[in-house]
Order: sequence, then C-alpha cells, then structure tokens
Amino acid sequence: MTAHIIDGKTIAAGLRGNVADAVHRLKRDRGHVPGLAVVLVGRNPASEVYVRNKTKAVIEAGMHPFDRNLPDSVGEDELLALIAELNADPKVNGILVQLPLPPQIDSQKVIAAIDPAKDVDGFHPLNVGRLGSGLPALVPCTPLGCVRLARTVHPSLAGLEAVVIGRSNIVGKPVAQLLLAENATVTIAHSKTADLPAVCRRADVLVAAIGRPEFVRGHWIKPGATVIDVGINRVSDAAGKSRIVGDVAYAEALDVAGAITPVPGGVGPMTIACLLLNTLRATCEQNGLPEPAV
Ligand code: GUN
Repeated sequence: MTAHIIDGKTIAAGLRGNVADAVHRLKRDRGHVPGLAVVLVGRNPASEVYVRNKTKAVIEAGMHPFDRNLPDSVGEDELLALIAELNADPKVNGILVQLPLPPQIDSQKVIAAIDPAKDVDGFHPLNVGRLGSGLPALVPCTPLGCVRLARTVHPSLAGLEAVVIGRSNIVGKPVAQLLLAENATVTIAHSKTADLPAVCRRADVLVAAIGRPEFVRGHWIKPGATVIDVGINRVSDAAGKSRIVGDVAYAEALDVAGAITPVPGGVGPMTIACLLLNTLRATCEQNGLPEPAV
C-alpha cells in the first residue's frame, strides 16, 4: 500500500484564496482592511525566514502588514511598550510576537500582555483556557492546520483514536484539545511515555510534533492510519548536503499509512494560511461581524 499524500501546499493555497476573497468583501462592503503586526526581536535566521514568509502572505491576502523589528538587546519594558501601542492601534487587528525571544525577556509576560482579541497565535492564557473549556477562541495556527489537514481525509474525527506525540504549548497540547473538540479519543504521548511504538500503533490519526528527525518509524504506524507530520528538521547527508525532513521516517511510513503529510509541503504551508484565517476572524470579531465562513 502506498499512502495518499496530503498536499498541504495546495490545500493551504485554497484556504489563502478563500481568506483573500473574504478580505476583499470585507473591504468592499464594510471598509475594513485587516492589519497584522508581526514583531521580530533579533536576527535569528529561522525566525527571519518565517517572518518574511508571513509578511508576504499578509500582503497577498490583501491585508495590511505592520512589521516591527527590534534589536536582540531590547529590554522587556521596551517590548511591552510596543505591545501596548499595538494593542491600542485600531488598524492593528492581530499581533504576533515571533518566538523564541532573547533570554532577557520573559516570553510568558509578553504573550500575556497581548490583547486576547488580537492574539492571532492563540497563545494568551485566556485563549488557551477558552480552547480547553470548549469556548470560541483564537486557536494556535499550526494545530489548526493539522486538524484541517486531518479533516480532508476524515470529514468527521468523532470516535477515532488520535495520538499526539509532543506536549508543547505551541503544538502538542493545543492540537490535542482541538482533536478532543472534534470528538476524537485523544492520547498525548511524550518523551516519558512507556512503549511509545505501541501507543502510536493505536492511532487512527497520528500527529508527530517532537522535533526529532525521522523519529517515528514505519512499524509504529497502524496500517491505514493518517499521519500528520509537524516536524521541520534540517539534516545533512554523508556528502554534507542538507535537506529538510519531518519527525516521521517518511519512506517507511508511505508503505504503511493510509494518508500522510509530506515535509516540506504538508503542515508548514497550513500554518501561514491559518494565521491569515485567524487575522480575518479577529478583525470580524473586533468589528461585531459574523464569523467568516472560510
Ligand atoms: N516560533 C515557531 N513557531 C511559532 C509560532 O507558531 N508563532 C510564533 N509567534 N512564534 C513561533
């Protein structure tokens, strides 16, 4: 059996097109142009790439970018003052502070300072709590993308066994909450889980968010399962040539899984598409408009 490859790139392009259409209607009918502020501190090369891609996508969707770059040496007070300024700016509907932040800055304090209504990352404790309580919330972008991809294979996830490997605040925990909200039976596995391969083999939907290259082996996967690979790991081959691989041993998994997201081209493109979706949702909510059907 060769797994169906879930084409995240095409699915994300479709979502971005739908968001752009909704943005166009919002501008035409109500005069609102969603604005997203992306705050980058320092010169982390990976963060610079992410932020550049996000800004490009914001412009392509017809939204206003409000990029703010601060030096690596910036103090916490200065960053908090910038957040306060963006919170108060009515043209800014969404605020994203790219992580990680330099060590002199308490990331949790910065996240908590963002107006929860503008928290398009869904990291603010209020949004985390609302998601856990089953209330409407701004939800982290990568988890949202994972569930949207899983739903292209399983329009209903109700009653399915879902196993999430990884318990980070950015991916593992929120993706588990979203799968639970979809009525899946959810297990969160992690580095201390006993017999991880056996736990993974229970999964109808397996989400790998560990950050270790090709960690999940083919024989860990239940035949026919849907595999969502969140990993983005740069590895070098024997000749020193570098490439990007996921958290799943892809070639092995292809022979066992029913469906799988590739890396690159799976979850990654969905993260940015879901950021645009969250910015649109936040704009509508802030203006008393109904939730966009995107
Ligand atoms: N760094 C890595 N992933 C993310 C993300 O989803 N949001 C933010 N703000 N920073 C990140």
